[in-house]
Amino acid sequence: MKTIDDIDVNNQRVLLRADLNAPMKSDATGQMQITDDGRLKASVATINDLRKKNAKVIILAHLGRPKGERKPELSLKPISKRLSELLNSEIHFIEDIHAENATQVVNNLKPGEIAMIENIRFEKDETSKDISDRQRLAKLLASFGDFFVIDGFGVVHREQASVTDIARVLPKAVGRLVQAEQKAFDKVLNNPQRPYVVVLGGSKVSDKLGVINNLINKVDKILIGGGMAFTFLKAQGYEVGDSLLEIDRLDEVKQLMKTAKEKNVELVLPIDIVVSKQLDGSAPVSVVLANEIPVGLKGLDIGPKTSELFASKINDAKTVVWNGPMGVFEVNAFASGTKTVAQALAQSSAYSVVGGGDSAAAIRSLGIDESKFDHISTGGGASLELLEGKILPGLAVLEEV
Ligand code: 3PG
Repeated sequence: MKTIDDIDVNNQRVLLRADLNAPMKSDATGQMQITDDGRLKASVATINDLRKKNAKVIILAHLGRPKGERKPELSLKPISKRLSELLNSEIHFIEDIHAENATQVVNNLKPGEIAMIENIRFEKDETSKDISDRQRLAKLLASFGDFFVIDGFGVVHREQASVTDIARVLPKAVGRLVQAEQKAFDKVLNNPQRPYVVVLGGSKVSDKLGVINNLINKVDKILIGGGMAFTFLKAQGYEVGDSLLEIDRLDEVKQLMKTAKEKNVELVLPIDIVVSKQLDGSAPVSVVLANEIPVGLKGLDIGPKTSELFASKINDAKTVVWNGPMGVFEVNAFASGTKTVAQALAQSSAYSVVGGGDSAAAIRSLGIDESKFDHISTGGGASLELLEGKILPGLAVLEEV
């Protein structure tokens, strides 16, 4: 697999697939604002290194899932503006790759300059299931570049024109971010130091079953919090009140608990739970034992005893992977479990990898120093699929000659 150090990009046009899919919300004036620019910051290193090598950088990225429609609220313009601030450099924006001036903008770029193509998912062919549609778009995109560099780790699990198909048209290389992500996941999947602890949370157990099935063969302890914990508590025979429950996954969860026992993997479930009637913190909040969740109340965070227990397990570990918040961390009353886990991990000497998506956002929104973690992934679905042991098409294509 070639890196950007193995290709001669001097005065060449480099199409860079980044993942700039940042969470956005509209402000009082109706303008879209970025709420977490972590992915943009993570993309800066490769862009700057390419510029130092005198490349003309043309950024390809997506925002949301517009499904081939031009949706103004999913324009990359606000993203381009913020990235331009982070890079301290102008970004020439290409609104429409079919328009004549698209070629002009690219042809006018000088070495070290940057252009960005509007949300590539505004093109229907980008996400088409029909390979010939995707190849058509890949060919058009390839006309804007001499090299293709993949640095959008968050999309490497997607078989899409700007991810996989284009990599089969242009000479390709891997960017710094994807390299860093691969290194971190390789370590925790293939070469972990023990004790090895995985902390899983988030709302849906169904999203994490594949991860548990794979990691159960590798780890020493699995700590389970978040909404997904209630299906485990139910499988243990407890009533869970109005908490999240995936009843159709109960048998699978019971089987996992059995497998954990057989493999001598310690499965650690919450022992106490923060409960309330309302998810938004507007109703009274209390702490109950995990086997005493009253009817009519929902579990919305792990309790203080569980937080302490999880923190001590993290403290004893040499490798920790964390994916998914322990509760509804966006609401102050239910943020404590996630905060304690994040702080324990930040303070521990273990090699720590934080899965992307919500856990990475939680670290940033709770104000925890990001530099205290060995790796905070920028991938949500992509990092989960790697932890599930899957081969990701956007990475596999890089091995093709
Ligand atoms: C993500 O947010 O996980 C990536 O940007 C991929 O987005 P997608 O799930 O819409 O393909």
